[in-house]
Amino acid sequence: MDALKLHDKFFIPFIKAHEIEATVKKMAQDMVAELQGEQPLFIGILNGSFMFVADFVRQYNKPCEVSFVKLASYQGTATTGKVKELVGLQENIEGKTVVILEDIIDTGNTLEEIHQIFKDKKVKALKIATLFFKPDVFKKDLKIDYIGLSIPNKFIVGYGLDYDGLGRNLSDIYQLKTSN
Ligand code: IMP
Ligand code: MG
Repeated sequence: MDALKLHDKFFIPFIKAHEIEATVKKMAQDMVAELQGEQPLFIGILNGSFMFVADFVRQYNKPCEVSFVKLASYQGTATTGKVKELVGLQENIEGKTVVILEDIIDTGNTLEEIHQIFKDKKVKALKIATLFFKPDVFKKDLKIDYIGLSIPNKFIVGYGLDYDGLGRNLSDIYQLKTSN
């Protein structure tokens, strides 16, 4: 098996690029169907979502806006539990149908922070979409409107997701190798 070394850890192949592509396409088609008559503002959460957003909006073949905010909750492979806004929203989003595009929802701490940030913004609707979801870890009572793939509680890298800065450029998803 073609294991990959990033910093001190080994990662093994987990999800192939073509499966991600099909998942992203399906998410876009679902949203096109459901958001008929709307002109959504898609907001990607940086850095992890950049690849997902780029592929997603090319599949979303209806008028829409695209923007990004930057938050951080992770250092290494364990969540700090502390999330803070780094780069805020520039535009006025009042009255808009906002769809948050997340790379992955793990504990849901980031999602909670997103809800905090958007709750006073008078948006028409706030919807949450995530490419990857770890149902075994998520403990929050918050709705996730669109889920690409549910995965086991494994640390993954690739397709925008990193381990301490590395791995974002990989087209496939790799998972942390836990034993030899
Ligand atoms: P949460 O706040 O615990 O839900 O985590 C959200 C953020 O943590 C994501 O946007 C990612 O940046 C990061 N994250 C969570 N799980 C993973 C993983 O398996 N690999 C890489 N980053 C992750
Ligand atoms: Mg990250």
